[in-house]
Amino acid sequence: MDKTKILFVCLGNICRSPSAEAVMNQFIEKEGLSKLIKTDSAGVSGYHAGEPADARMKDHAYNRGYTLSSISRQIDPSQDFDYFDYVIAMDNQNIRDLKQMTTENHQQKKIYKMTEFCSSFEASTVPDPYYGGDNGFELVLDILEDACQGLLNHIKNGK
Ligand code: 4NP
Repeated sequence: MDKTKILFVCLGNICRSPSAEAVMNQFIEKEGLSKLIKTDSAGVSGYHAGEPADARMKDHAYNRGYTLSSISRQIDPSQDFDYFDYVIAMDNQNIRDLKQMTTENHQQKKIYKMTEFCSSFEASTVPDPYYGGDNGFELVLDILEDACQGLLNHIKNGK
């Protein structure tokens, strides 16, 4: 069976989307689904391409048992919209930027907002924590844990 492939996207690919990838990977492993679901992450921008995840984000994630090991890369619209089944953005600006990258309807349909998969949180975005304090990083993880569980359930239900 073909793997379901998920690309998480934020602005810099050093805070939110690497965290989404790590949280989702841990949930996938816990449910024994590693052979069926594959994840990656990318930034709308290439500002931080080649860099590891933000040290503050890494610390907050590590304290919850997640290891952020990804290296930042910029999304490649010429390949990523074909390869991935889900292109999941963290905020509304990410969505706008992604929608400008492709005019193909079947590719636009792959674009989702992470918070669409939340069941406990009412949040409408995963807020950018980069210029804020500790609370912002914790909030990112709270929202992502809720949304990743919802996303996994959605995929398991064959949606
Ligand atoms: P991310 O956070 O999009 O969650 O990776 C940011 C990282 C870097 C910047 C902004 C947001 N920046 O302006 O450099």
